[in-house]
Amino acid sequence: MPQDAVLVIGASGQIGSELTLELRKHYTTVVAADLKNPIPEVADSGPFLRLDVLNRSGLADCISRYRINQIYHLAAILSATGEKNPELAWRVNMKGLRNVLDCSLQMNVQKLFWPSTIAVFGPNSPKQRTPQWTVMEPNTIYGISKLAGERWCDYYFQKKNLDVRSLRYPGLISYKAPGGGGTTDYAIDIFFEAVRHRRFTCFLKADTRLPMMYMPDAIRATLLLMEAPADRITVRSSYNIAAIDFTPAEIAEAIRKHIADFVIDYQPDFRQQIAESWPESIDDSVARRDWGWMPSYNLEALTTDMLAHIAA
Ligand code: NAD
Ligand code: SER
Repeated sequence: MPQDAVLVIGASGQIGSELTLELRKHYTTVVAADLKNPIPEVADSGPFLRLDVLNRSGLADCISRYRINQIYHLAAILSATGEKNPELAWRVNMKGLRNVLDCSLQMNVQKLFWPSTIAVFGPNSPKQRTPQWTVMEPNTIYGISKLAGERWCDYYFQKKNLDVRSLRYPGLISYKAPGGGGTTDYAIDIFFEAVRHRRFTCFLKADTRLPMMYMPDAIRATLLLMEAPADRITVRSSYNIAAIDFTPAEIAEAIRKHIADFVIDYQPDFRQQIAESWPESIDDSVARRDWGWMPSYNLEALTTDMLAHIAA
């Protein structure tokens, strides 16, 4: 097992919970850090530290204490929560990232992962198979902060030689930890409501198509990117990655194949406007070419797996 000491910031969140558990299979020391308590599996399987990423000296102490040489910085305020509190979203998403970039540089952290998002695209970007490089005019504070974050990551690589790597995750679907306040969270909640109540009220319209991915694919993509030789990484802002895309009506239909009496209705709210500003599908050919990315879950496989785990 590699002797690297890894720090996951935002380890109690939807992605952090599963990423921490996976990293602990690969590395001897994986420190989970967050403002809030971790899920029991994370708490029971290794060190947990309460850390505010906005507290730079606390972050530096943690890196020094555990001799951290790889960081996965996931802490952020997501799209829907960000629109309710833009100041907080800007502070956490920007200042948090700057703290991590600066500490990584000063304390010789060898590799840094930071996730971006499909929200970096905006209403003027192409909607279908949105390319790696295109018009990017996000109109949510979340998207604006993530696009600025991408430029900071590229800058730290180009000017300071920091090995920072990034993926533009689509909406991620999982069952271990709840969604963190995103616009794509309906595609998580729908499964829990289908199993519990056989009915779901969706906050997006029936035909709102968005790019999505099942969590095991997202975790695999993250590790694949981080383990790729540095000379295979041609994009230091953030890579497009894709798996599937669907509408609320289509996912409801997929669930109905397992739960025949499942009923969905629609009450679109402010998140409809956010969703409509994002791509419907993503072109991830650069990630496929550079480090061999290939998704494995389609809508049917994801639906079967989600329902089985939630029912259990
Ligand atoms: P989440 O909200 O579930 O988790 C984020 C975690 O960060 C939370 O546990 C929260 O307590 C923690 N956090 C917030 N502020 C903090 C602070 N100041 N200091 C320390 N911890 C703090 O979000 P997630 O879905 O797990 O997303 C993780 C990352 O992936 C984010 O950067 C997000 O933008 C990105 N991303 C997520 C998705 C998705 O669909 N989940 C899609 C694209 C990108
Ligand atoms: N899933 C995220 C959100 O909806 C996209 O980054 O905010």
